Amino acid sequence: MTTQVIPVPDIGGAENVDVIEVCVAPGDAVDAEQSLIVLESDKASMEVPSPVAGKVIALKVNEGDTVSEGDPIIELDVEGGETAPSASASASASASEAAAETSAAQSEPAAAEPEPAAPAAVQSEPESAPAPQAAATAEMPVAVPDIGGAEGVDVIEVCVAVGDEVAEGDSLIVLESDKASMEVPSPAAGKVLALSVNEGDQVSEGDAILTLAGTAAAPAPETEAAAPAPQQEAAPVPAPAPAPSGPPITEPAAPAPAPQAPSEPQGDDVYAGPSVRKLARQLGVDLAEVKASGPRNRHTKNDVRGYVKDMVARKPAPGAGGAGIPAVPAVDFAKFGDIELVKMSKIQKVTVASMVRSWLNVPHVTQFDEADISDLESFRKEMKAEAENRGVKLTPLPFLLKACAAALRHEPSFNTSLHADGEHMVQKHYVHIGVAVATPAGLLVPVIQNVDKKGLWELAAESAELAKKARDGKLLPRDMQGACFTVSSLGAIGGSGFTPIVNTPEVGILGVSKAEIKPVWNGSEFVPRQMLPLSLSYDHRAVNGADAGRFFTFLVSLLGDIRRLIL
Ligand code: COA
Repeated sequence: MTTQVIPVPDIGGAENVDVIEVCVAPGDAVDAEQSLIVLESDKASMEVPSPVAGKVIALKVNEGDTVSEGDPIIELDVEGGETAPSASASASASASEAAAETSAAQSEPAAAEPEPAAPAAVQSEPESAPAPQAAATAEMPVAVPDIGGAEGVDVIEVCVAVGDEVAEGDSLIVLESDKASMEVPSPAAGKVLALSVNEGDQVSEGDAILTLAGTAAAPAPETEAAAPAPQQEAAPVPAPAPAPSGPPITEPAAPAPAPQAPSEPQGDDVYAGPSVRKLARQLGVDLAEVKASGPRNRHTKNDVRGYVKDMVARKPAPGAGGAGIPAVPAVDFAKFGDIELVKMSKIQKVTVASMVRSWLNVPHVTQFDEADISDLESFRKEMKAEAENRGVKLTPLPFLLKACAAALRHEPSFNTSLHADGEHMVQKHYVHIGVAVATPAGLLVPVIQNVDKKGLWELAAESAELAKKARDGKLLPRDMQGACFTVSSLGAIGGSGFTPIVNTPEVGILGVSKAEIKPVWNGSEFVPRQMLPLSLSYDHRAVNGADAGRFFTFLVSLLGDIRRLIL
């Protein structure tokens, strides 16, 4: 075992690039090629993979830091002394080569031959090309620059149309590989005469993008080769990752919010290029709040600007908070006694936002009932020995999950979401259920997929595993996505009832309190029965009272007679 410091690899000469996400924590075991950090310049984002497998000893960077090639990222304990490749080798070989070519091209005298792989995408004019001033009106084919050797990269956005005037540096197209996206800037000012690519095309270095009629003094071919390289502005596209996982631009892995108002993790749902993200950051806009109008639901700069305009137009009345609600005044608590300021965790901050979002958007109704789980509990106790043999703990939770899944099938209005267009409801035909888990860092909601298709043992094992992952801080964004409904159980902690907050965009949540033996009148006498207090909150826009009544009655009857779960 040796300790190695993993540095920032060759990132195409980009300097002081923002660290927008740190994907690992001390103690984590990382595989070779697993992402360590995500970097974002104003034109590109890239994930930096680990060159070797090992265990993270210490972090050398934090979110918000800026880094350049060679800066240390982490200290890694590496099995058997496996040697991490050098900084430049840890980036893709092609990226390194590309950067080497770039710097070579730049160190050439101005009159050097234009490099074929030079990132400046302007094709050189024929040798007899006119002088710079004459080039002002020349047609300039613009090609895909050096993109670190990546081939067949998707064109996910064409940012200009024929007839548009572009300034030097304006984005022409956005390319996306499986681990990075980059905007290809215009190498010169001019008017777009013809487009050679469409969204959905795949391109490689040298492929034509468009033809530009120069309106400014276009540089002569010699200087074009030595001109500031778009690749340098844009940072390189890193090597295609071995294990693509979702969209290449990763948001800070915002953990799913909390039980009572946790919302979908937003990270992977936001689809936007680096410059759009940068603009959003500068304006303090949460992209998850912005309606995307681009292709494949992609956010554009105009979406961000439109959102801000809209917010400004909705200026609250004097003295009122963001939603027209009077703001809570800041109080100097130190006047009243000893205090300390405790930094909120990221999960707590996400929870704050999602609580407010759910609370203010959703007209909540909460219904209460009690399920007689005496028979369920006898059965569960009978099964304890078998559970131990199987290495799982059989708590009431798997029964609750199974019963909720059956109730969601029985009363599908609970398995919906309101569509953002305001015109539709989304009826889901799958049954994924979130389980609120209390963790030291805050409340998280991992999701169990296809609960209706799983048995009690499987649900017991999976919920325990996800709860453990949540407590250990090991949940991935995909573990927290896609829930149709949430179960929030405070049963082991106590309490006789509470009003859970719907986890938007879901429309229902079940709160489970502590089961107690209570006297129940059976028609002739009081008998001791184990009663489980339940509270069902729902979004009254999506679910009406009668639907909720049916859902709840069915759920309570299933828990009262679990034989019906197999019907
Ligand atoms: N009433 C009485 N006892 C209950 C119960 C209930 N409703 N639910 C669970 N228990 C018992 C279990 O049976 C177990 O006892 P046992 O070992 O004798 O069988 C004990 O409480 C501990 O259960 P736990 O380990 O918590 O498992 P679980 O499957 O019930 O719950 C989680 C798993 C993840 C839901 C739970 O650990 C958790 O994090 N709960 C907090 C959720 C939360 O904070 N919600 C916020 C609401 S705002």
